[in-house]
Formats: sequence, structure tokens, C-alpha cells
Amino acid sequence: MKKDFLSLYDLEKSDFEEIFQRSESLKQKARDGILYTPLAGKTLGMIFDKSSTRTRLSFEVGMFQLGGIAMFLSRRDIQLGRGETIADTARVMSRYLDGVMIRTFAQEWVEDFAANATIPVINGLTDLLHPCQIISDLFTIIERKGRYEGLTVAYVGDGNNIANSWINAAAKLPFALRLACPEGYDPDEAIFKRGVAEASHGVFLFREPANAVAGADVIYTDVWASMGQEAEQEERNIIFKDYQVNSQLTAYGGKDALIMHCLPAHRGEEITDDVLDGPHSVVIDQAENRLHVQKAVMEILIGGRKIQ
Ligand code: CP
Ligand code: NVA
Repeated sequence: MKKDFLSLYDLEKSDFEEIFQRSESLKQKARDGILYTPLAGKTLGMIFDKSSTRTRLSFEVGMFQLGGIAMFLSRRDIQLGRGETIADTARVMSRYLDGVMIRTFAQEWVEDFAANATIPVINGLTDLLHPCQIISDLFTIIERKGRYEGLTVAYVGDGNNIANSWINAAAKLPFALRLACPEGYDPDEAIFKRGVAEASHGVFLFREPANAVAGADVIYTDVWASMGQEAEQEERNIIFKDYQVNSQLTAYGGKDALIMHCLPAHRGEEITDDVLDGPHSVVIDQAENRLHVQKAVMEILIGGRKIQ
């Protein structure tokens, strides 16, 4: 693994496998009530520029369970918010902390921070990517389906940070990815082109949601307006109306297709209640697994005592 966890595209297949294996072991330890504290004495800083429920909770609880502590650092309350440079902040924080998790707008901001930090930096969501979410979702798929190899994941909705991270994962791992996005709301062009060129099982973009969902093993969606796009919500509700994941659309999926959503959901917009709460939905497992998978990422990157 590299020093930082900024994009799934930076991971090799063996890195994914190591994280999945450690996640399973850490989840089992938690289930068995085994105290396992390889990060005792370590501190994680968490810089938040956007709201969060799952990401904050899973990093904070995860760090505590691994024996360390996590500090919530809102940009408003640190000198960064008053103009201290990213580089100076990164250099200073590297002298106190053992790792930093950042949730912000620009991916470049996180990369700039990481380039100036001597400690591991983890991307907790940017406008472009959400790697912690998708690696954790792959772990949920493995739990439910026993594998990800050879499966087809259908993503319906906005070509946002979640879609882009799915493409990065498909570029590295042998599963097929079918996206359905309205025109003008495609994933990042460079990430998409690279994904199409490099994915062993293919990355495909459709306009018609039913074409993406046909026979799929996983049906995934996310909000139509992401954090920072609230002003576009009404306009998007009209543009995306045919991209709702409802029982009519899921009927095109495979018989036991998993219904996935990173949450938070806008119920009645991108997904209906009956589908989100239905028997094929694994959204609460997805939320739980953020904890176990991020513990694995922190254990590997921040180190500490020998992994057991
Ligand atoms: N899925 C996710 O990242 O949730 P939060 O925004 O609540 O952290
Ligand atoms: N695409 C969403 C994901 C939230 C976890 C957003 O960026 O707001």
C-alpha cells in the first residue's frame, strides 16, 4: 500500500485483498468481543468541510476500538479556515498526529495536503471520489455473494463521487460495471475513459436505467444532488425522475440482486421506501461495514503493533 488512501485507483488488487481479509478478521474480533488495540497511543485527525454521520462515526469509533483516539477538526475552528496554508497545516499536523482523514470539496486539496504531510492521509469524500465507501461496499458484496469476481454492478443516477469510485474499482478488479446517468450528468470524463480502457470486465454507460440494471447482481444508487449541489436539487429532481430505483426498475435485475445505497438517502427521490427497506436491501450492513473496513485501512496505514 502507498502512504495515503486517496483513490481506489492507487490500490493494486493485492491491496484490496489485504483490506478485505483484515476487515473480516477485525469484524470477527469485534463480534467475539476481543479487545484488539494495535493503534494504542496513536491519534487520527479528522478534518471536515462537509457534514457526515457514517464517516465521522466509523472513523472515530474505529480509532477508539483500535486503541487510539480521533480528533474532530472542523475547518471553521482551525487556522486553516482563517487562511493558514494547506502545506503549513499538513507539515504541522504531521508532527502531532499519526494520520489524517479529510472530507472536503476539491480532490486536489486532499492531494496537496498528502503531498506535504509525512503521515498517512485518508480521503473521507471529495466532490470527485469516495474511496472508503466503495471499498467497504465491495466487502459487503463479498459477505453477501461470497465474491465480487464476475459479478455485474449497476449504478443508476448521478455520475458523482460514488460513480467515479466505482469506476476506479472496476479498473482494478474483475467485475463488470454498468452505469446509467442522464446526459450531462456523466461520471468524470478522464476517470471514465481510463476505466473503459483498463477494466477487465468492462465499464459501460447507458442512458436507459433498465439497460444497466438488466440481470445485474447489484443495483446501486445515490442522491441526485450531492453535498454542495443543494441549489440544483429542484432542477435535478426533474432531470433524474426516470432514474428512480423503484420496484419497476429492480424487476429488471437479477433474481437475488442486492440493493445498495451509500446513504444518506432522499427517500422518494432516487429510491423508493419499499426498495430501500425491502428484503434485498443491504444498506444498513453497508453502513456497519464502513467501521470494519476503515479499521482495516487504519491498521495497515497507521501501523502500530504487529497485526494479529
Ligand atoms: N456514506 C457516507 O459517507 O455517509 P456520511 O455522509 O454520513 O458520512
Ligand atoms: N454523493 C454524495 C455521497 C454522500 C455520502 C455526496 O457527495 O453528498
